[in-house]
Amino acid sequence: MTKDIVCSGIRPTGNLHLGNYFGALRNFVAMQDEYDCYFFIADYHSLTTHPTPGSIYDDARRILVQYLACGLDPERSTIYLQSDLPETVELYLFLNMNAYLGELERVTSFKDKVRQNPNNVNAGLLTYPTLMAADILIHKATKVPVGKDQEQHLEMTRTFAQRFNNMYHSECFPLPQAVGFGQQLVKIPALNGAGKMGKSEGEASTIFLTDEPDVIRKKIMKAKSDSGPTEPNQTKPEEIENLFTLLRVVSTADTVEHFDHLYNTCQIRYGDLKKQLAEDMEKFIAPFRERIKELEADDARLRRIMDLGRDKAHASASRTLSEVRRTIGYRN
Ligand code: TRP
Repeated sequence: MTKDIVCSGIRPTGNLHLGNYFGALRNFVAMQDEYDCYFFIADYHSLTTHPTPGSIYDDARRILVQYLACGLDPERSTIYLQSDLPETVELYLFLNMNAYLGELERVTSFKDKVRQNPNNVNAGLLTYPTLMAADILIHKATKVPVGKDQEQHLEMTRTFAQRFNNMYHSECFPLPQAVGFGQQLVKIPALNGAGKMGKSEGEASTIFLTDEPDVIRKKIMKAKSDSGPTEPNQTKPEEIENLFTLLRVVSTADTVEHFDHLYNTCQIRYGDLKKQLAEDMEKFIAPFRERIKELEADDARLRRIMDLGRDKAHASASRTLSEVRRTIGYRN
């Protein structure tokens, strides 16, 4: 049996944090064992909202390094920069010919962008879903790990794929399905007691994979807590539950049980809990931070990784594109 083909694009924004790791990332890493995976940095898509980027390569490189440090494997998977695969753009042109203004204008993410940026309603923004469809269909991917916010785009990918197949009486494209991770997603809370880590909660509430030990300690010691339980076995308020959630993620079961017992018997001192959490968090983050530093400094290795990814992606994309061109009726 042939393996399912997985494809996902990564926006080159921000730095990776604990929430990213326990969200999609850890699952990307695991998927490599089971599927034929294509992961790329979406550095064409960046142009839709940043018409004058000075740092497009640096951003892509930085995010690539951080994903590699988390375990994306350039040997087992195909990991590349979107802008290294111009075949995508040719497929994007073909798909745009059968993408209708009305359906593109109805896309939620487009309407949001128009509202946020009424002075930059460009055609690239409008056709964001066809570019995304091209990213996926160029490898004939069947599974796309994406968050809820991308499901409408994926639905459109299926629409465009089906329309192409119908139009040319072909079976060129499979219809890709979204894969959510459901139960496997561990929601990491922000340190300020409310919301998810990384979601507009500010840097002080977020542990980045690049954070140095003293930064981690400071952030955790300042995390929100309360004045402590007054009755045995009290339900934990949100900010305390959040500290325990983090503890469960980076500490041993014994440690969690120890502090749980102290809480339930009203003997807990949050300073002690935070000290322990900071220590275990640092142990957890350190290998990521060190691998990031190592890769950052090894330009030759990074270039080799990018070249390998580009070549593997090209092999897959040129196969699809020849078939598409033949199907449409162009010379090959
Ligand atoms: N639109 C996705 C996001 O905002 C990124 C992306 C671009 C993508 N092309 C893709 C995701 C193809 C999956 C497949 O996160």
